[in-house]
Amino acid sequence: MELDERTLSSVAAYDEHARAYQESLRLRRPVADVRRFAALAQRGDLVLDAGCGPANDLRLLRDAGVHPVGVDLSLGALREARMLLPRHPLVQTPLHDLPFTPRSFGGLWLSGSFAHLPRAAWRPTFAKLLGFLDTGPVYLSGYRGTDDLAPDDDPVLGRVYNSSVTEVELTALCRSHGLQDLTVEVRPDPIRDRARLWVVALGVLRR
Ligand SMILES: C[S@@+](CC[C@H](N)C(=O)[O-])C[C@H]1O[C@@H](n2cnc3c(N)ncnc32)[C@H](O)[C@@H]1O
Repeated sequence: MELDERTLSSVAAYDEHARAYQESLRLRRPVADVRRFAALAQRGDLVLDAGCGPANDLRLLRDAGVHPVGVDLSLGALREARMLLPRHPLVQTPLHDLPFTPRSFGGLWLSGSFAHLPRAAWRPTFAKLLGFLDTGPVYLSGYRGTDDLAPDDDPVLGRVYNSSVTEVELTALCRSHGLQDLTVEVRPDPIRDRARLWVVALGVLRR
């Protein structure tokens, strides 16, 4: 799969501004979601934080009792992650091509991870990522809307290209992959603008 130029340009923005991005998010993490997610996993399980950025959630996941493996395409973001977590498993790779054994994880955490993918890539990328999950919780959040890599001048990252999703689409995506005990919520954006909305899904894959 070729990555869209706008995806690559958004990833380059994280390379360049990873530290400022990390600092801007530090106190605005979905702590309650991390706890709900970890409570649905087996204690000590490996979970995949795909699109982990500069480790905004890796420490929270670890502190909640699971073992997260962080994956991102942005080397700049992973360098920041490495400073916070010197011995942690971090892998630079695109989301659609992870170097792992199928069904080797007990949870999948996707916080804003599809924001810079074209809408058409969400479903195949999600299907591939689910292939690395044995059983366990799946968390997926994104901006609410119908944008398809629309330009956005982010105050921290500069120009990035964002895709968004409706709650109906996110529900259908999760259900079509057999996620159970699904909750889908619409919430204000805790980071930049409370008028902008997020859609947040949490479900469980059982085989
Ligand atoms: C909105 S940020 C979310 C970061 C983190 N999960 C969080 O919640 O703060 C999106 C992240 O996905 C990464 N990313 C975007 N497209 C990617 C791709 N195709 N493969 C791997 N990582 C990608 C970016 O580098 C960035 O770190």
